[in-house]
Amino acid sequence: MSKNVLFISGSPRAGANTKAVVNVVYRLLRDKQGNSQLLDLHRHVLPLFNGDPAQQELDTVVQLRKLAKEADAFFIVTPEYHNGISGALKNALDFLNSDYFQGKPVAIAAAAGGGKGGINALNNLRLVLRGVQANVLSTQYVADPNQIDQHGIFIDEAGVQALQALVLDLASALKTEASV
Ligand SMILES: Cc1cc2nc3c(=O)[nH]c(=O)nc-3n(C[C@H](O)[C@H](O)[C@H](O)COP(=O)(O)O)c2cc1C
Repeated sequence: MSKNVLFISGSPRAGANTKAVVNVVYRLLRDKQGNSQLLDLHRHVLPLFNGDPAQQELDTVVQLRKLAKEADAFFIVTPEYHNGISGALKNALDFLNSDYFQGKPVAIAAAAGGGKGGINALNNLRLVLRGVQANVLSTQYVADPNQIDQHGIFIDEAGVQALQALVLDLASALKTEASV
């Protein structure tokens, strides 16, 4: 049975390096899992979560929850902003809860500014995803700006190989989930 993977690009910026990373993994996994979906938080602009039930009726929120509910697994890429995940990604995750994540494998990666950035964002993302009871893979990846060209294309072959390994880890976790 084909599984459904939701890819989330956690940057609110146009031309984000985060999106360049998502494009690579989306393409790699789409070939294996036909039902992959992509949610780009630059295009999919959510209101600031405020707990008002009226927000649940908004198209962007309904669509986010539908995609997350239908997903069997997630691949989430965050930018590192001030040592953490983006506000846009945290806000999107605040609209969700364990109903959307419990028991589902999640692969994570970060796009950082170089100079050894990225790990803090990944640790922060793990902490937040623990809050929604996701099964985050132990493997992860950080992309640096020198791996992405001026057109927003991820050009580093060694990086593509490392991302492919992460994609295979997610595909393998999906198979394991399916067999239990
Ligand atoms: C508000 C802001 C804060 C940032 N803070 C960090 C940081 O703490 N560590 C880091 O490595 N890069 C930092 N960066 C650089 C981004 O990680 C870098 O631009 C990377 O490309 C990911 O962002 P993007 O997907 O929006 O392009 C920051 C960028 C912005 C806009």
